[in-house]
Amino acid sequence: MAGKTMPELHLGLEGIYFAESSICKVDGTKGRLYYRGYSIGELAGYSDFEEVSYLLLHGELPTRSQLIAFRRRMRAERTLPNKIIGIIEEESVRSHPMHVLLTAVAALAAYDKEADVASPRANMEKSIRLISKAGSIVAAIGRLRSGKQYVRPDARLGHAENMLYMMNGTRPSSNAARLLDLMMVLHAEHSSNASTFSTIVTGATLSDLYSAVASGIATLKGPLHGGADERALQMLRDIKRPENTERYIDEALQNKRRVMGFGHRVYKTYDPRARIIRKILLDLSLESGEVKNLAQIALRAEKLMIERLGRSKGIWPNVDFFTGPVYVHIGIIPALFTPMFAASRMPGWCAHMLEYWEHSRLIRPLEYYTGQAGRRYVPLGRR
Ligand code: ACO
Repeated sequence: MAGKTMPELHLGLEGIYFAESSICKVDGTKGRLYYRGYSIGELAGYSDFEEVSYLLLHGELPTRSQLIAFRRRMRAERTLPNKIIGIIEEESVRSHPMHVLLTAVAALAAYDKEADVASPRANMEKSIRLISKAGSIVAAIGRLRSGKQYVRPDARLGHAENMLYMMNGTRPSSNAARLLDLMMVLHAEHSSNASTFSTIVTGATLSDLYSAVASGIATLKGPLHGGADERALQMLRDIKRPENTERYIDEALQNKRRVMGFGHRVYKTYDPRARIIRKILLDLSLESGEVKNLAQIALRAEKLMIERLGRSKGIWPNVDFFTGPVYVHIGIIPALFTPMFAASRMPGWCAHMLEYWEHSRLIRPLEYYTGQAGRRYVPLGRR
């Protein structure tokens, strides 16, 4: 490539703005997060997942009557077609729940007459269906993979409460339902992260919403993104006891292993979502049994990581670090952590897609070619 000037490469598209958006502001320096202008702290304290879904999709908090109507719509969409339940039953036995979720969400398009209708109205309707049904799918995966009978959704229950009901077959405690709902609010949206970006890349080809969010699910699975939560819990379990934490962390850092649940492309300070989950963990660390042990190990690991890498490298806990012990407390198995994340992120993915389609442009970045040029084809017999 002699004579050609190398263009500036933006590896990992770091620092690149590709669109305008009014959905989410992530302030990575101050450690602040806002959905549609409302701070995550206020939404976590006062709102719930159904209301936050409305806010993300419509841009405004609903009035009382709008909220009642939206809840009714969401709850009416919870049922799953029998064939989808069959897919979940069949696949859950041998596949990772993220693969099952991906398959089931993509297959949902077959049961939506408007799957390929691209009007704003149809896309809003599909968003409500997807948010609602993703919760049912994740709950059904949790239930059916352990060989139990499918439990039909209960439209009298809140979104998170119904998910726990469908998973366990009994109504959850109000504390468990509230905690899961809070976790879902914290995971509902996070601007142009990897999974949202891949959702938009797919949607920008004018593909349909089911295909777009299926891209998001596939991207979220990776351990550098949503898949970190399951691995972070595994690490806490491997550490076994609080007094082993220092040796484990130092060994990991000496061997240049990434400590899952730490570091972030945008936050170079404490992730505000992790800060909120940490408060829950402080309460859990006073409980008994495995959750107390996990919480105590997590709090020690957090302190050590901040001492070792926090101020020097800007590596702080992210949303995935403390979630494990909270989910264990609620009774959610590790294989469902990332699917839970996906069901929570569905409103964010849909909101971004609806917004991007208002001024859609195909996304097609460039690679700088460094391979050979002008080679002549050599027939097979002469190679
Ligand atoms: N543990 C140890 N060291 C780390 C970690 C970590 N978790 N994260 C980053 N570092 C180090 C890197 O080794 C690198 O060190 P070096 O400069 O000596 O080579 C430096 O910090 C910068 O790391 P990059 O990978 O360049 O930072 P990037 O912005 O690309 O990474 C990422 C962000 C991928 C999230 C990274 O921090 C990571 O791998 N974390 C662990 C996985 C994780 O928790 N992912 C969830 C993120 S939140 C979410 O997606 C919901």
